Amino acid sequence: MILVAGGSGNLGRLVVRLLRDVGEPVRVLTRDPARCRALPADVEIVTGDVTDPSDVANAMRGCRGVVSAIHGFAGPGNPTPERIDREGNRVLIDAARTMGVANFVLVSIVGVCADHAMSLHRSKFAAEDALRRSGVPFTIVRATAFMETWAVVIGSPLADKGFALVFGPGTNPINFVSVRDVAPLVVDCVYNRVPVGATLEIGGPENLSFVSIAERLVSRDGKGKSIKHIPLILLRAMSILARPFAPEFARKATAAVVLNTTNQTFQTTRGGALLNVPQTTLDDVLSSAH
Ligand SMILES: NC(=O)c1ccc[n+]([C@@H]2O[C@H](COP(=O)([O-])OP(=O)(O)OC[C@H]3O[C@@H](n4cnc5c(N)ncnc54)[C@H](OP(=O)(O)O)[C@@H]3O)[C@@H](O)[C@H]2O)c1
Repeated sequence: MILVAGGSGNLGRLVVRLLRDVGEPVRVLTRDPARCRALPADVEIVTGDVTDPSDVANAMRGCRGVVSAIHGFAGPGNPTPERIDREGNRVLIDAARTMGVANFVLVSIVGVCADHAMSLHRSKFAAEDALRRSGVPFTIVRATAFMETWAVVIGSPLADKGFALVFGPGTNPINFVSVRDVAPLVVDCVYNRVPVGATLEIGGPENLSFVSIAERLVSRDGKGKSIKHIPLILLRAMSILARPFAPEFARKATAAVVLNTTNQTFQTTRGGALLNVPQTTLDDVLSSAH
């Protein structure tokens, strides 16, 4: 039995499906079982919160492996990266050690470090550190930004407002990877096809930009659609001023500043231990999205 924390999410759903495809029994920990409707019917769903040790112990009982595909950057329940990515992962890791779990796969992010400008990246780095020190056999998969996530973020105003929204100038080259390429790597880690204790980095085949994603979304959506920008200066101001009253918005503004102003390119050959080279392009993702 493999526990997938985050099995209701974009990446987690695909990991669950791939594991079920090879007959692996899978359990998903979720705060809301309604979010698991799209999962195969024979997946065990356990309701609970990753920050609650008794929920996690209940979900992990009898599992030989754990996948952590959670995050607290945004989403329901006013999460924070500190609470979910750092502390929630610590609860999962502690339970895995107590229960003698044989394999813990942590999904992290390319570029994490202790003094990163984004709390998400600092919190993921803390989780990586806790896992390496835990004595639990592990693999860490660091991914670049997900195409599926950002296509939704940039394209969400198209239907109602008629424009795609770009954060800042949006011309900085950014590597995006599809969850279709990340999920098989996570499954390879579950089955120890990569060395235990490895930290792998995975990016997609293209370095794109916010603007290039917006252009493709607009041209796909048809005539009369446009692209609007939130100015970088406003994002910089909101990343600081919004912190006390709208922390999630402040985190998103910080992310936008980082993605516009730092090197976000990635060469797919980096981290050379990948078994399959990521091939999914933005066009592949957009052509199958509805
Ligand atoms: N999106 C990206 O661009 C990106 C890039 C690199 C790495 N990653 C990493 O990839 C992984 C998957 O990301 P994603 O974008 O696929 O996620 P997502 O679709 O936003 O889903 C987030 C998942 O986290 C779970 N979660 C959050 N708080 C929880 C809590 N308190 N207790 C239990 N579960 C909780 C949610 O479960 P419920 O809501 O069902 O409880 C959900 O399944 C994450 O580790 C993320 O940091 C993402």
